[in-house]
Amino acid sequence: MALITLLPKQEQTFFSFLAVSVLLFLCWGVIEVESGIGVNWGTISLHKMSPFTVVDLLKQNKIQKVKLFDADPAVMKGLMGSGLEVMVGIPNDMLAGLSSSTSAADLWVAQNVSRYMVKGGVNIKYVAVGNEPFLTSYSGQYQSYVVPAMTNLLQSLAKANLARNVKLVVPCNADAYESSLPSQGTFRPELTPIITQMVSLLNSNGSPFVVNIYPFLSLYGNSDFPQDYAFFEGTTHAVTDGPNVYYNAFDGNLDTLIAALAKIGYGQMPIVIGEVGWPTDGALGANLTAARVFNQGLVNHVLSNKGTPLRPQVPPMDVYLFSLLDEGAKSVLPGNFERHWGIFSFDGQSKYPLNLGNGLLKNAKDVEYLPYRWCIANPLKDLAEVTNHVRLACSYADCTTLNYGGSCNEIGAKGNISYAFNSYYQLQKQNPRSCDFDGLGMVTFLNPSIGKCRFLVGVSDYASSSGFRLQDSWISVLLILLWDAWLFLM
Ligand SMILES: *[C@@H]1O[C@H](CO)[C@@H](O)[C@H](O)[C@H]1NC(C)=O
Ligand SMILES: *[C@@H]1O[C@H](CO)[C@@H](O)[C@H](O)[C@H]1NC(C)=O
Ligand SMILES: *[C@@H]1O[C@H](CO)[C@@H](O)[C@H](O)[C@H]1NC(C)=O
Repeated sequence: MALITLLPKQEQTFFSFLAVSVLLFLCWGVIEVESGIGVNWGTISLHKMSPFTVVDLLKQNKIQKVKLFDADPAVMKGLMGSGLEVMVGIPNDMLAGLSSSTSAADLWVAQNVSRYMVKGGVNIKYVAVGNEPFLTSYSGQYQSYVVPAMTNLLQSLAKANLARNVKLVVPCNADAYESSLPSQGTFRPELTPIITQMVSLLNSNGSPFVVNIYPFLSLYGNSDFPQDYAFFEGTTHAVTDGPNVYYNAFDGNLDTLIAALAKIGYGQMPIVIGEVGWPTDGALGANLTAARVFNQGLVNHVLSNKGTPLRPQVPPMDVYLFSLLDEGAKSVLPGNFERHWGIFSFDGQSKYPLNLGNGLLKNAKDVEYLPYRWCIANPLKDLAEVTNHVRLACSYADCTTLNYGGSCNEIGAKGNISYAFNSYYQLQKQNPRSCDFDGLGMVTFLNPSIGKCRFLVGVSDYASSSGFRLQDSWISVLLILLWDAWLFLM
Protein backbone atom coordinates (compact mmCIF):
# COMPACT_ATOMS: atom_id res chain seq x y z
CA MET A 1 0.00 0.00 0.00
CA ALA A 2 2.82 2.36 0.92
CA LEU A 3 4.33 1.67 -2.47
CA ILE A 4 1.14 2.60 -4.24
CA THR A 5 0.77 5.97 -2.50
CA LEU A 6 4.26 6.98 -3.68
CA LEU A 7 3.45 6.38 -7.31
CA PRO A 8 1.90 8.86 -9.77
CA LYS A 9 -1.86 8.65 -10.28
CA GLN A 10 -1.84 6.46 -13.39
CA GLU A 11 0.41 3.85 -11.90
CA GLN A 12 -1.67 4.00 -8.74
CA THR A 13 -4.78 2.93 -10.58
CA PHE A 14 -2.80 0.27 -12.36
CA PHE A 15 -1.44 -1.07 -9.11
CA SER A 16 -4.82 -0.95 -7.37
CA PHE A 17 -6.17 -2.82 -10.37
CA LEU A 18 -3.38 -5.36 -9.93
CA ALA A 19 -4.04 -5.64 -6.19
CA VAL A 20 -7.76 -6.13 -6.79
CA SER A 21 -7.00 -8.71 -9.46
CA VAL A 22 -4.69 -10.60 -7.13
CA LEU A 23 -7.36 -10.47 -4.45
CA LEU A 24 -10.00 -11.66 -6.89
CA PHE A 25 -7.65 -14.36 -8.03
CA LEU A 26 -7.12 -15.52 -4.45
CA CYS A 27 -10.87 -15.55 -3.82
CA TRP A 28 -11.36 -17.36 -7.08
CA GLY A 29 -8.83 -19.90 -5.83
CA VAL A 30 -10.98 -20.40 -2.75
CA ILE A 31 -14.11 -20.75 -4.87
CA GLU A 32 -12.38 -23.34 -6.98
CA VAL A 33 -11.82 -25.53 -3.93
CA GLU A 34 -15.57 -26.04 -3.87
CA SER A 35 -16.78 -29.28 -5.31
CA GLY A 36 -17.70 -29.37 -8.94
CA ILE A 37 -20.82 -31.21 -10.05
CA GLY A 38 -20.15 -33.16 -13.23
CA VAL A 39 -21.98 -35.92 -15.07
CA ASN A 40 -21.30 -39.35 -16.51
CA TRP A 41 -21.96 -39.47 -20.24
CA GLY A 42 -22.49 -43.09 -21.26
CA THR A 43 -23.39 -43.97 -24.82
CA ILE A 44 -24.96 -47.46 -24.62
CA SER A 45 -28.03 -46.00 -26.19
CA LEU A 46 -30.59 -47.10 -28.77
CA HIS A 47 -31.20 -43.54 -29.93
CA LYS A 48 -28.08 -41.41 -30.02
CA MET A 49 -28.26 -37.66 -30.19
CA SER A 50 -25.47 -35.91 -32.03
CA PRO A 51 -22.51 -35.38 -29.65
CA PHE A 52 -22.67 -31.69 -30.59
CA THR A 53 -26.24 -31.52 -29.27
CA VAL A 54 -25.13 -33.25 -26.06
CA VAL A 55 -22.15 -30.94 -25.57
CA ASP A 56 -24.44 -27.97 -26.14
CA LEU A 57 -26.80 -29.41 -23.50
CA LEU A 58 -23.89 -29.57 -21.04
CA LYS A 59 -22.86 -26.01 -21.79
CA GLN A 60 -26.42 -24.67 -21.58
CA ASN A 61 -26.60 -26.17 -18.12
CA LYS A 62 -23.14 -24.94 -17.11
CA ILE A 63 -22.01 -28.50 -16.41
CA GLN A 64 -18.23 -28.14 -16.66
CA LYS A 65 -17.07 -31.68 -15.99
CA VAL A 66 -17.91 -34.83 -17.87
CA LYS A 67 -16.84 -38.41 -17.36
CA LEU A 68 -16.76 -40.89 -20.23
CA PHE A 69 -16.41 -44.67 -20.18
CA ASP A 70 -14.17 -44.84 -23.23
CA ALA A 71 -12.73 -42.42 -25.76
CA ASP A 72 -15.21 -42.71 -28.62
CA PRO A 73 -13.82 -40.51 -31.44
CA ALA A 74 -17.30 -39.14 -32.29
CA VAL A 75 -17.83 -38.02 -28.69
CA MET A 76 -14.31 -36.61 -28.46
CA LYS A 77 -14.92 -34.66 -31.66
CA GLY A 78 -18.06 -33.19 -30.11
CA LEU A 79 -16.01 -32.12 -27.07
CA MET A 80 -13.27 -30.40 -29.08
CA GLY A 81 -13.00 -26.73 -28.31
CA SER A 82 -15.73 -26.94 -25.65
CA GLY A 83 -13.37 -26.25 -22.75
CA LEU A 84 -15.22 -28.86 -20.68
CA GLU A 85 -13.06 -30.85 -18.28
CA VAL A 86 -13.08 -34.46 -19.46
CA MET A 87 -12.34 -37.83 -17.88
CA VAL A 88 -11.78 -40.43 -20.60
CA GLY A 89 -12.05 -44.09 -19.74
CA ILE A 90 -10.34 -47.37 -20.51
CA PRO A 91 -12.76 -50.33 -20.54
CA ASN A 92 -11.83 -53.27 -18.29
CA ASP A 93 -11.27 -55.61 -21.21
CA MET A 94 -8.36 -53.46 -22.42
CA LEU A 95 -6.50 -53.68 -19.10
CA ALA A 96 -4.77 -57.00 -19.79
CA GLY A 97 -3.24 -55.71 -23.03
CA LEU A 98 -2.15 -52.41 -21.48
CA SER A 99 -0.63 -54.17 -18.46
CA SER A 100 1.57 -56.42 -20.55
CA SER A 101 2.73 -54.07 -23.28
CA THR A 102 4.34 -50.65 -23.02
CA SER A 103 3.79 -50.07 -26.71
CA ALA A 104 0.06 -50.76 -26.32
CA ALA A 105 0.02 -48.14 -23.55
CA ASP A 106 1.98 -45.69 -25.74
CA LEU A 107 -0.46 -46.25 -28.56
CA TRP A 108 -3.49 -45.80 -26.31
CA VAL A 109 -2.12 -42.52 -25.01
CA ALA A 110 -1.17 -41.34 -28.50
CA GLN A 111 -4.53 -42.19 -30.03
CA ASN A 112 -6.82 -41.23 -27.16
CA VAL A 113 -5.05 -38.47 -25.24
CA SER A 114 -2.10 -36.77 -27.01
CA ARG A 115 -4.04 -36.35 -30.21
CA TYR A 116 -6.66 -34.24 -28.42
CA MET A 117 -4.31 -32.23 -26.19
CA VAL A 118 -3.85 -29.48 -28.74
CA LYS A 119 -5.19 -25.96 -29.12
CA GLY A 120 -8.93 -26.24 -29.79
CA GLY A 121 -8.79 -29.87 -28.70
CA VAL A 122 -10.21 -31.62 -25.67
CA ASN A 123 -9.38 -30.62 -22.10
CA ILE A 124 -8.56 -34.11 -20.76
CA LYS A 125 -7.94 -33.98 -17.01
CA TYR A 126 -8.23 -37.64 -16.07
CA VAL A 127 -7.85 -41.08 -17.56
CA ALA A 128 -9.92 -43.72 -15.77
CA VAL A 129 -8.02 -47.00 -15.82
CA GLY A 130 -10.80 -49.58 -15.94
CA ASN A 131 -14.26 -49.16 -14.51
CA GLU A 132 -14.95 -50.75 -11.13
CA PRO A 133 -12.30 -53.42 -11.84
CA PHE A 134 -12.58 -54.80 -8.28
CA LEU A 135 -16.31 -55.50 -8.46
CA THR A 136 -17.05 -58.73 -6.57
CA SER A 137 -19.09 -60.07 -9.48
CA TYR A 138 -15.97 -59.98 -11.74
CA SER A 139 -14.44 -62.64 -9.45
CA GLY A 140 -11.05 -60.98 -9.58
CA GLN A 141 -10.58 -61.31 -13.34
CA TYR A 142 -9.29 -57.73 -13.82
CA GLN A 143 -7.71 -56.85 -10.51
CA SER A 144 -4.16 -58.03 -11.18
CA TYR A 145 -3.95 -55.88 -14.33
CA VAL A 146 -4.77 -52.56 -12.69
CA VAL A 147 -1.41 -51.59 -11.20
CA PRO A 148 0.75 -52.83 -14.14
CA ALA A 149 -1.54 -51.03 -16.61
CA MET A 150 -1.27 -47.84 -14.53
CA THR A 151 2.52 -48.17 -14.44
CA ASN A 152 2.73 -48.48 -18.23
CA LEU A 153 0.27 -45.66 -18.83
CA LEU A 154 2.13 -43.37 -16.41
CA GLN A 155 5.29 -43.91 -18.43
CA SER A 156 3.46 -43.27 -21.68
CA LEU A 157 2.00 -40.03 -20.33
CA ALA A 158 5.43 -38.95 -19.11
CA LYS A 159 6.97 -39.70 -22.52
CA ALA A 160 4.23 -37.62 -24.14
CA ASN A 161 4.95 -34.79 -21.68
CA LEU A 162 1.42 -35.00 -20.32
CA ALA A 163 2.03 -36.45 -16.87
CA ARG A 164 1.51 -33.11 -15.16
CA ASN A 165 -1.81 -32.27 -16.80
CA VAL A 166 -3.45 -35.67 -17.13
CA LYS A 167 -3.96 -37.78 -14.02
CA LEU A 168 -4.71 -41.48 -13.87
CA VAL A 169 -7.56 -42.61 -11.63
CA VAL A 170 -9.31 -45.94 -10.97
CA PRO A 171 -13.08 -45.66 -10.36
CA CYS A 172 -13.80 -48.15 -7.57
CA ASN A 173 -17.05 -49.75 -6.62
CA ALA A 174 -18.09 -49.28 -3.00
CA ASP A 175 -18.02 -53.04 -2.40
CA ALA A 176 -14.20 -52.83 -2.36
CA TYR A 177 -14.57 -51.90 1.31
CA GLU A 178 -16.87 -52.95 4.09
CA SER A 179 -17.84 -52.56 7.73
CA SER A 180 -20.89 -52.14 9.91
CA LEU A 181 -19.71 -48.79 11.28
CA PRO A 182 -17.91 -46.12 9.22
CA SER A 183 -14.95 -45.83 11.62
CA GLN A 184 -14.30 -49.58 11.22
CA GLY A 185 -14.00 -49.38 7.42
CA THR A 186 -11.46 -51.70 5.77
CA PHE A 187 -10.80 -52.79 2.22
CA ARG A 188 -11.81 -56.39 1.49
CA PRO A 189 -8.93 -58.50 2.83
CA GLU A 190 -8.16 -60.16 -0.53
CA LEU A 191 -7.99 -56.71 -2.19
CA THR A 192 -5.95 -54.90 0.43
CA PRO A 193 -2.46 -55.61 -1.05
CA ILE A 194 -3.51 -54.51 -4.56
CA ILE A 195 -5.43 -51.47 -3.37
CA THR A 196 -2.51 -50.43 -1.18
CA GLN A 197 -0.17 -50.53 -4.19
CA MET A 198 -2.69 -48.71 -6.31
CA VAL A 199 -3.32 -45.97 -3.75
CA SER A 200 0.40 -45.47 -3.24
CA LEU A 201 0.79 -45.00 -6.99
CA LEU A 202 -2.19 -42.62 -7.15
CA ASN A 203 -0.82 -40.66 -4.21
CA SER A 204 2.67 -40.26 -5.62
CA ASN A 205 1.17 -38.91 -8.83
CA GLY A 206 -1.19 -36.45 -7.18
CA SER A 207 -4.32 -38.35 -8.23
CA PRO A 208 -7.50 -38.59 -6.15
CA PHE A 209 -9.28 -41.79 -5.12
CA VAL A 210 -12.43 -42.23 -7.23
CA VAL A 211 -15.37 -44.12 -5.78
CA ASN A 212 -18.91 -44.88 -6.94
CA ILE A 213 -21.59 -44.73 -4.23
CA TYR A 214 -25.17 -45.97 -4.69
CA PRO A 215 -27.61 -45.71 -1.80
CA PHE A 216 -30.30 -46.78 -4.31
CA LEU A 217 -28.63 -50.17 -4.72
CA SER A 218 -28.41 -50.59 -0.94
CA LEU A 219 -32.15 -49.95 -0.74
CA TYR A 220 -32.96 -52.09 -3.78
CA GLY A 221 -30.87 -55.02 -2.63
CA ASN A 222 -31.95 -55.05 1.00
CA SER A 223 -35.55 -54.77 2.18
CA ASP A 224 -34.32 -54.03 5.73
CA PHE A 225 -32.43 -50.93 4.60
CA PRO A 226 -34.18 -47.91 6.13
CA GLN A 227 -35.54 -45.91 3.22
CA ASP A 228 -35.07 -42.47 4.78
CA TYR A 229 -31.38 -43.22 5.44
CA ALA A 230 -30.84 -43.37 1.65
CA PHE A 231 -31.93 -39.73 1.31
CA PHE A 232 -30.68 -36.45 2.75
CA GLU A 233 -33.74 -35.22 4.57
CA GLY A 234 -33.06 -36.57 8.04
CA THR A 235 -33.69 -40.09 9.24
CA THR A 236 -35.29 -41.99 12.06
CA HIS A 237 -32.45 -44.51 11.66
CA ALA A 238 -29.36 -42.40 12.32
CA VAL A 239 -26.17 -44.45 12.76
CA THR A 240 -24.20 -43.63 15.89
CA ASP A 241 -20.50 -44.37 15.62
CA GLY A 242 -18.67 -43.28 18.76
CA PRO A 243 -18.85 -39.48 18.85
CA ASN A 244 -20.17 -39.32 15.27
CA VAL A 245 -23.76 -39.58 14.09
CA TYR A 246 -24.65 -40.34 10.47
CA TYR A 247 -27.93 -39.15 8.99
CA ASN A 248 -27.50 -40.45 5.44
CA ALA A 249 -26.02 -43.45 3.69
CA PHE A 250 -23.82 -41.31 1.46
CA ASP A 251 -21.83 -39.81 4.34
CA GLY A 252 -21.69 -43.17 6.12
CA ASN A 253 -20.31 -44.80 2.99
CA LEU A 254 -17.79 -42.04 2.32
CA ASP A 255 -16.43 -42.19 5.87
CA THR A 256 -16.14 -45.98 5.65
CA LEU A 257 -13.85 -45.39 2.67
CA ILE A 258 -11.93 -42.68 4.52
CA ALA A 259 -11.41 -45.04 7.47
CA ALA A 260 -10.28 -47.81 5.10
CA LEU A 261 -7.82 -45.44 3.42
CA ALA A 262 -6.51 -44.33 6.82
CA LYS A 263 -5.89 -47.97 7.73
CA ILE A 264 -3.52 -48.38 4.81
CA GLY A 265 -1.82 -45.07 5.60
CA TYR A 266 -3.63 -42.70 3.22
CA GLY A 267 -6.26 -41.06 5.39
CA GLN A 268 -5.71 -37.73 3.63
CA MET A 269 -6.29 -38.89 0.02
CA PRO A 270 -8.55 -36.48 -1.87
CA ILE A 271 -11.75 -38.25 -2.94
CA VAL A 272 -13.82 -37.86 -6.11
CA ILE A 273 -17.27 -39.42 -6.45
CA GLY A 274 -17.16 -41.09 -9.86
CA GLU A 275 -20.81 -42.11 -9.94
CA VAL A 276 -23.81 -41.37 -7.75
CA GLY A 277 -27.47 -41.06 -8.68
CA TRP A 278 -30.98 -42.45 -8.62
CA PRO A 279 -32.95 -44.10 -11.45
CA THR A 280 -36.45 -42.98 -12.42
CA ASP A 281 -38.04 -46.12 -13.80
CA GLY A 282 -37.93 -49.90 -13.91
CA ALA A 283 -38.22 -50.66 -10.17
CA LEU A 284 -40.53 -49.80 -7.29
CA GLY A 285 -38.16 -47.33 -5.61
CA ALA A 286 -37.10 -45.84 -8.94
CA ASN A 287 -39.36 -42.92 -9.74
CA LEU A 288 -39.22 -39.23 -10.59
CA THR A 289 -39.95 -38.02 -7.07
CA ALA A 290 -37.34 -40.22 -5.40
CA ALA A 291 -34.71 -39.32 -8.02
CA ARG A 292 -35.39 -35.60 -7.64
CA VAL A 293 -35.31 -35.74 -3.84
CA PHE A 294 -32.11 -37.80 -3.80
CA ASN A 295 -30.18 -35.87 -6.44
CA GLN A 296 -31.23 -32.44 -5.18
CA GLY A 297 -30.43 -33.48 -1.62
CA LEU A 298 -27.03 -34.75 -2.72
CA VAL A 299 -26.17 -31.63 -4.71
CA ASN A 300 -27.24 -29.31 -1.87
CA HIS A 301 -25.31 -31.42 0.62
CA VAL A 302 -22.14 -31.34 -1.46
CA LEU A 303 -22.39 -27.65 -2.35
CA SER A 304 -22.95 -26.75 1.31
CA ASN A 305 -19.32 -27.83 1.88
CA LYS A 306 -20.37 -29.53 5.10
CA GLY A 307 -18.21 -32.56 4.53
CA THR A 308 -18.60 -35.66 6.69
CA PRO A 309 -17.88 -36.37 10.38
CA LEU A 310 -14.42 -37.70 9.46
CA ARG A 311 -13.74 -34.81 7.07
CA PRO A 312 -15.74 -31.83 8.26
CA GLN A 313 -15.81 -28.92 5.79
CA VAL A 314 -14.08 -31.06 3.18
CA PRO A 315 -16.61 -32.29 0.62
CA PRO A 316 -15.48 -34.62 -2.18
CA MET A 317 -13.33 -32.76 -4.73
CA ASP A 318 -15.76 -33.48 -7.54
CA VAL A 319 -19.00 -35.40 -7.86
CA TYR A 320 -20.09 -36.95 -11.16
CA LEU A 321 -23.81 -37.68 -11.28
CA PHE A 322 -24.89 -40.92 -12.83
CA SER A 323 -26.11 -40.20 -15.28
CA LEU A 324 -26.55 -37.57 -17.97
CA LEU A 325 -28.85 -39.53 -20.30
CA ASP A 326 -30.90 -42.72 -20.21
CA GLU A 327 -29.19 -45.58 -22.01
CA GLY A 328 -31.75 -47.97 -23.52
CA ALA A 329 -29.25 -50.59 -24.67
CA LYS A 330 -27.64 -51.27 -21.31
CA SER A 331 -27.80 -54.77 -19.89
CA VAL A 332 -30.72 -55.25 -17.51
CA LEU A 333 -28.81 -57.86 -15.51
CA PRO A 334 -28.64 -55.52 -12.47
CA GLY A 335 -32.37 -54.75 -12.91
CA ASN A 336 -34.70 -52.94 -15.32
CA PHE A 337 -33.80 -49.64 -13.65
CA GLU A 338 -30.35 -49.85 -15.29
CA ARG A 339 -31.66 -48.11 -18.43
CA HIS A 340 -33.19 -45.19 -16.54
CA TRP A 341 -30.47 -43.39 -14.59
CA GLY A 342 -30.47 -40.19 -16.66
CA ILE A 343 -31.25 -36.76 -15.23
CA PHE A 344 -32.32 -36.28 -18.86
CA SER A 345 -34.22 -38.77 -21.01
CA PHE A 346 -32.39 -40.27 -24.01
CA ASP A 347 -33.37 -37.20 -26.05
CA GLY A 348 -32.06 -34.61 -23.60
CA GLN A 349 -35.37 -33.65 -21.95
CA SER A 350 -35.07 -32.86 -18.26
CA LYS A 351 -37.09 -35.48 -16.36
CA TYR A 352 -37.73 -33.48 -13.18
CA PRO A 353 -36.77 -30.08 -11.79
CA LEU A 354 -33.14 -30.24 -10.62
CA ASN A 355 -30.79 -27.41 -9.72
CA LEU A 356 -27.09 -28.22 -9.94
CA GLY A 357 -26.22 -24.78 -8.62
CA ASN A 358 -27.02 -22.75 -11.74
CA GLY A 359 -30.80 -22.78 -11.89
CA LEU A 360 -33.13 -25.56 -13.01
CA LEU A 361 -31.99 -27.90 -15.77
CA LYS A 362 -32.75 -26.82 -19.33
CA ASN A 363 -33.72 -29.20 -22.12
CA ALA A 364 -31.53 -29.98 -25.11
CA LYS A 365 -32.01 -27.68 -28.05
CA ASP A 366 -32.33 -28.63 -31.72
CA VAL A 367 -32.77 -32.35 -31.13
CA GLU A 368 -33.33 -33.99 -34.49
CA TYR A 369 -36.39 -36.16 -34.06
CA LEU A 370 -37.83 -38.56 -36.56
CA PRO A 371 -41.28 -37.43 -37.77
CA TYR A 372 -43.99 -37.37 -35.09
CA ARG A 373 -45.66 -40.72 -35.64
CA TRP A 374 -46.01 -43.94 -33.78
CA CYS A 375 -46.72 -47.62 -34.41
CA ILE A 376 -49.55 -49.24 -32.43
CA ALA A 377 -51.55 -52.46 -32.43
CA ASN A 378 -54.33 -52.29 -35.00
CA PRO A 379 -57.51 -52.16 -32.90
CA LEU A 380 -59.48 -54.02 -35.57
CA LYS A 381 -57.27 -57.12 -35.50
CA ASP A 382 -57.43 -60.17 -33.32
CA LEU A 383 -54.27 -59.98 -31.24
CA ALA A 384 -54.23 -63.60 -30.05
CA GLU A 385 -51.15 -64.42 -32.15
CA VAL A 386 -49.08 -61.48 -31.06
CA THR A 387 -46.90 -62.89 -28.24
CA ASN A 388 -43.93 -63.80 -30.40
CA HIS A 389 -43.95 -60.42 -32.12
CA VAL A 390 -43.92 -58.67 -28.77
CA ARG A 391 -41.15 -60.87 -27.43
CA LEU A 392 -39.01 -60.29 -30.53
CA ALA A 393 -39.70 -56.52 -30.59
CA CYS A 394 -38.70 -56.21 -26.93
CA SER A 395 -35.57 -58.30 -27.40
CA TYR A 396 -34.23 -55.52 -29.67
CA ALA A 397 -35.99 -52.46 -28.35
CA ASP A 398 -36.35 -51.28 -24.76
CA CYS A 399 -39.60 -52.33 -23.06
CA THR A 400 -38.38 -52.17 -19.46
CA THR A 401 -40.97 -49.56 -18.43
CA LEU A 402 -43.72 -52.18 -18.95
CA ASN A 403 -42.57 -54.28 -16.04
CA TYR A 404 -43.71 -54.18 -12.44
CA GLY A 405 -42.72 -50.85 -10.91
CA GLY A 406 -42.30 -49.26 -14.35
CA SER A 407 -44.05 -46.15 -15.67
CA CYS A 408 -46.00 -48.15 -18.30
CA ASN A 409 -46.91 -51.13 -16.15
CA GLU A 410 -50.58 -50.23 -15.99
CA ILE A 411 -51.49 -49.55 -19.61
CA GLY A 412 -53.29 -52.87 -20.16
CA ALA A 413 -52.69 -55.79 -22.49
CA LYS A 414 -53.35 -53.87 -25.71
CA GLY A 415 -51.28 -50.95 -24.47
CA ASN A 416 -48.42 -53.36 -23.80
CA ILE A 417 -48.54 -54.60 -27.38
CA SER A 418 -48.65 -51.10 -28.83
CA TYR A 419 -45.77 -50.02 -26.64
CA ALA A 420 -43.64 -52.94 -27.81
CA PHE A 421 -44.53 -52.31 -31.46
CA ASN A 422 -43.71 -48.62 -31.19
CA SER A 423 -40.39 -49.14 -29.42
CA TYR A 424 -39.33 -51.49 -32.20
CA TYR A 425 -40.62 -49.19 -34.96
CA GLN A 426 -38.71 -46.21 -33.59
CA LEU A 427 -35.58 -48.33 -33.18
CA GLN A 428 -35.91 -49.24 -36.87
CA LYS A 429 -36.02 -45.52 -37.69
CA GLN A 430 -39.72 -45.77 -38.56
CA ASN A 431 -39.17 -48.09 -41.46
CA PRO A 432 -42.83 -48.86 -42.46
CA ARG A 433 -42.05 -52.58 -42.73
CA SER A 434 -41.05 -52.58 -39.06
CA CYS A 435 -44.65 -51.70 -38.11
CA ASP A 436 -46.15 -54.59 -40.03
CA PHE A 437 -46.10 -57.44 -37.48
CA ASP A 438 -48.02 -59.69 -39.92
CA GLY A 439 -50.61 -56.98 -40.42
CA LEU A 440 -51.22 -56.44 -36.69
CA GLY A 441 -49.49 -53.05 -36.48
CA MET A 442 -50.47 -49.66 -37.87
CA VAL A 443 -48.88 -46.22 -38.01
CA THR A 444 -50.65 -43.31 -36.30
CA PHE A 445 -50.13 -39.55 -35.98
CA LEU A 446 -52.00 -39.50 -32.66
CA ASN A 447 -49.63 -39.66 -29.71
CA PRO A 448 -50.56 -42.87 -27.86
CA SER A 449 -48.80 -41.84 -24.61
CA ILE A 450 -51.00 -42.49 -21.56
CA GLY A 451 -50.49 -40.71 -18.24
CA LYS A 452 -46.86 -41.04 -17.15
CA CYS A 453 -46.23 -43.69 -19.82
CA ARG A 454 -44.43 -42.05 -22.73
CA PHE A 455 -44.48 -43.60 -26.20
CA LEU A 456 -41.24 -42.31 -27.63
CA VAL A 457 -40.36 -40.86 -31.01
CA GLY A 458 -36.81 -41.72 -32.01
CA VAL A 459 -34.06 -39.28 -32.86
CA SER A 460 -32.20 -39.39 -36.15
CA ASP A 461 -29.11 -41.41 -35.53
CA TYR A 462 -26.15 -39.23 -36.40
CA ALA A 463 -23.88 -42.27 -36.65
CA SER A 464 -25.68 -44.36 -39.25
CA SER A 465 -25.67 -42.93 -42.73
CA SER A 466 -27.43 -46.10 -43.88
CA GLY A 467 -30.41 -45.28 -41.64
CA PHE A 468 -33.76 -45.68 -43.29
CA ARG A 469 -35.27 -42.52 -44.76
CA LEU A 470 -38.98 -42.60 -45.17
CA GLN A 471 -40.06 -41.07 -48.46
CA ASP A 472 -43.51 -39.84 -47.56
CA SER A 473 -45.92 -39.88 -50.41
CA TRP A 474 -48.83 -37.57 -49.67
CA ILE A 475 -51.13 -40.53 -50.34
CA SER A 476 -49.67 -42.56 -47.47
CA VAL A 477 -49.84 -39.56 -45.14
CA LEU A 478 -53.47 -39.00 -46.13
CA LEU A 479 -54.28 -42.66 -45.51
CA ILE A 480 -52.78 -42.54 -42.02
CA LEU A 481 -54.64 -39.32 -41.27
CA LEU A 482 -57.94 -40.87 -42.39
CA TRP A 483 -57.23 -43.88 -40.19
CA ASP A 484 -56.50 -41.62 -37.22
CA ALA A 485 -59.64 -39.57 -37.77
CA TRP A 486 -61.67 -42.73 -37.93
CA LEU A 487 -60.05 -44.19 -34.77
CA PHE A 488 -60.51 -40.90 -33.00
CA LEU A 489 -64.22 -40.85 -33.78
CA MET A 490 -64.68 -44.52 -32.87
C1 LIG B 1 -8.67 -45.58 -28.08
O1 LIG B 1 -9.94 -45.63 -27.48
C2 LIG B 1 -10.94 -46.25 -28.28
C3 LIG B 1 -12.27 -46.05 -27.61
O2 LIG B 1 -12.27 -46.49 -26.28
C4 LIG B 1 -10.55 -47.70 -28.49
O3 LIG B 1 -11.50 -48.35 -29.30
C5 LIG B 1 -9.18 -47.77 -29.14
O4 LIG B 1 -8.78 -49.10 -29.26
C6 LIG B 1 -8.16 -46.98 -28.33
N1 LIG B 1 -6.90 -46.95 -29.05
C7 LIG B 1 -5.87 -47.75 -28.77
C8 LIG B 1 -4.66 -47.61 -29.62
O5 LIG B 1 -5.90 -48.58 -27.87
C1 LIG C 1 -40.94 -43.61 -5.25
O1 LIG C 1 -39.82 -44.21 -4.62
C2 LIG C 1 -39.80 -44.03 -3.23
C3 LIG C 1 -38.52 -44.63 -2.65
O2 LIG C 1 -37.50 -44.81 -3.51
C4 LIG C 1 -41.01 -44.68 -2.60
O3 LIG C 1 -41.02 -44.46 -1.22
C5 LIG C 1 -42.27 -44.10 -3.20
O4 LIG C 1 -43.38 -44.80 -2.71
C6 LIG C 1 -42.22 -44.19 -4.70
N1 LIG C 1 -43.35 -43.44 -5.24
C7 LIG C 1 -44.20 -43.98 -6.07
C8 LIG C 1 -45.30 -43.07 -6.54
O5 LIG C 1 -44.12 -45.13 -6.45
C1 LIG D 1 -47.93 -55.89 -19.68
O1 LIG D 1 -46.61 -56.42 -19.74
C2 LIG D 1 -45.92 -56.45 -18.49
C3 LIG D 1 -44.50 -56.91 -18.74
O2 LIG D 1 -44.42 -58.04 -19.52
C4 LIG D 1 -46.68 -57.37 -17.52
O3 LIG D 1 -46.04 -57.33 -16.27
C5 LIG D 1 -48.11 -56.87 -17.40
O4 LIG D 1 -48.85 -57.76 -16.59
C6 LIG D 1 -48.76 -56.78 -18.77
N1 LIG D 1 -50.11 -56.25 -18.63
C7 LIG D 1 -51.20 -56.91 -19.09
C8 LIG D 1 -52.54 -56.29 -18.79
O5 LIG D 1 -51.11 -57.95 -19.72
